[in-house]
This record gives sequence, C-alpha cells and structure tokens, in this order.
Amino acid sequence: MTDKNRTDPVIVFDTTLRDGEQSPGCSMTVPQKLRMARTLADMGVDVIEAGFAAASQQDFDAVREVARAVKGATICSLARCNSGDIKAAADALEPAEKKRVHVFIATSPIHREHKLKMSKAEVLARAVEGVRLARSHVDEVEFSAEDAIRSEPEFLAEVMAAVVAAGATTFNVPDTVGYTTPDEMGRLIAYLRERLPEDSGVVLSAHCHDDLGMAVANSLAAVRAGARQVECTINGIGERAGNCALEEVVMALKTRSDYFGAETGIDTRKLYPASRQLAAIIGGFVPANKAIVGDNAFAHEAGIHQHGMLANRETYEIMRPEDVGISRSTLVLGKHSGRHALADRVSELGFTLSDPEMEQLFGRFKTLADRKRQVFDADIEALIAGEQRDQ
Ligand code: KIV
Ligand code: ZN
Repeated sequence: MTDKNRTDPVIVFDTTLRDGEQSPGCSMTVPQKLRMARTLADMGVDVIEAGFAAASQQDFDAVREVARAVKGATICSLARCNSGDIKAAADALEPAEKKRVHVFIATSPIHREHKLKMSKAEVLARAVEGVRLARSHVDEVEFSAEDAIRSEPEFLAEVMAAVVAAGATTFNVPDTVGYTTPDEMGRLIAYLRERLPEDSGVVLSAHCHDDLGMAVANSLAAVRAGARQVECTINGIGERAGNCALEEVVMALKTRSDYFGAETGIDTRKLYPASRQLAAIIGGFVPANKAIVGDNAFAHEAGIHQHGMLANRETYEIMRPEDVGISRSTLVLGKHSGRHALADRVSELGFTLSDPEMEQLFGRFKTLADRKRQVFDADIEALIAGEQRDQ
C-alpha cells in the first residue's frame, strides 16, 4: 500500500435500512426509515442504502421518501441485474441529490449451479448488462459479486475487470455467508487491488456478515489491504448473525488510526444516540456487553479498575465515552467495588463523612452488596441516613 492511500478516508456505506431491515424482527415502516435515514445523514454516513426498490411497494416508497427528503449523503437502492429492478431503483432514486444504483449477482460455484443455474459466461454477461443499464440511469453504480468469498478469485477478477469496463464505480466484495477470516479477506482485497488499473478511480468495498463473529475484523482487514468502503449497519443488525457493526468499525478505525492509517468522516458522538434510536424503532435491545454502545461498554465494577479509573481513566479505557455520545463512564457499585469508588460516589451525592464514618459505611455497603447485584445511589443515601440515625 502506498503512503497516499494510507491516509485516504474510508467511505461508510450504511445498509441498516436494506440488509439490516431484511433480518427477522427488524422491519421498519416508511416514516421509521425516514427518521433513521436523517440520523445517518446527520452523523456523516456517506452512502445510505435505503432499500431494495423492486422488492415491494413499501420498499420503493421508502427509497423514494429518503431520496426526496435526506440531503448530504448519497442515497442508494439495491437491484438485481435485470431491467425491472434497475428501472425501479432508478425511478425511486430520481429525487435524490446524489444517487447510486447497487446491482448484484452471485459469482460463486454453489450459487451459480444451485440458485442461478447459470454458467460463468452467463453470469459475466448478466453482470455487464446490469452495470451498463444502471449507468444509463445514474453516474454512480456499485456492483456486488454476491458470495464473492466462495468464488474462484480468477473469475472474480474477470468479473471485476468486465464490470469496471462497463462503468461500475464501486466493486463490492461481499462475504455473504460470514465465512472468511481476516487473513483471507486481506489477501483477496490485495489480489483484486493489484488487478485494478491504478488510475481507474474504482473503489473496492467490503460487505461482511457476522456468522463466525468476524464481520468487523474482516472489514478492517479489507481496509488494511486497500478497500476504501465498508458496508455496515447500526448495532450490526442484518441477515442471520448480522452485518459488520458501523459503530465498531468506525471506532476501531478512529481509535487505532495509528495502525489502520485511515479514518471515516463520521461524527462519532452521534453513535450512541443512533444505536438507541434504532433499538427503540425495531423494539430490540442492545446487549449490555456490546462493544461501543452496550450499557457496560464504559462501566466499571472491579475495585482495582475503579481505583485506576479515578486516578486516570486511561488506565482502563481506550476510548472516551463522550466521543461515542455517552455522557460519562459509570463506576457501578457492587460487591467488587472498593473504598475509593464508594468515597467518590458519597462525595458526588453531596455528603462529607469523617474517616470513621466512611469506614462504618463501607462495612454496611459490603454487606448490602453481597445481597444485591448493584448498589444504587438511593441505597447509599439510605445507608448514610441509617448511620446518622444510629449515632
Ligand atoms: O450479503 C450480500 O451478499 C449482500 C449483497 C446483496 C451485497 O447483501
Ligand atoms: Zn449482505
């Protein structure tokens, strides 16, 4: 990789409203999609895939509404490589300021033989026709080789060369079934990159699913190898185990920009509110231990950790909660907490206790913490009130 490319920004392509919405329990109405799209644009997402216009009237309406109302980001619709899908996508996108048609066809042997029942030559011809037709409607055309990871690399490179010649501006490499590993993904992107003409301007993109829990790692490996677009969803929602989580890939690139040498244009302070908004819309919940946006992502209970945090938060935090839109770290008071954390909370609650009072309170606190999973501020206030009564 050249030094120039190392500092290139990474395009964030969000597919919460298409691939994310496709997963069980994640359907959204048109107004809900519109609200979410506004949030995505406001946080600096570069491309919003608003739906699959030909899939249903509601999907068409959602793409059209987002295209009409959301400014700043490029609005995109998915389409198979056929004229009906491509026309529906182009029609729905018509009011957008910046628009992209995203065409796809599977390239792997298993999909060619069992799903498409097409030869390599037929797949290649269909891909080229799809890209040409899409280019007759819009300037930005993304081509995805579905199940790219399980495709023959030489065939993938042949398809890439043909669709680029036909006018594709982005070549997307989906790990449709979440099968690849970071090393493999990195090697495949490097292999394709070497075969792209230096001055083509075509962006290589990664679209990773999380079946083996490696979607974010695989997307980051793709960036290391030269991909300049990552496809992702808020909270990682998506088919089966989900897609690459936007908040994780963005924060990994930001926190380890020393390693990846590339960053996104996302306003990361908007990550947590976006995560909560999506969870509220689809009625789902975000696991407490979810990286970046989970309730425990910036919570500390162990006494040693709390002591370290009070001295210098960087002892146990690699990111600042404010940078992802969480107001502050929380020192959870429980049976693992120590004197420092309790004293800190007591003073935050406005009490001044002498050393012997504090010692007595700590004993009572530990007894209570053994019975309760978490000791809340009201419990501490009650303990202090009880102590003051007993004196
Ligand atoms: O996972 C996949 O292959 C897709 C493509 C349509 C990009 O979602
Ligand atoms: Zn997908």
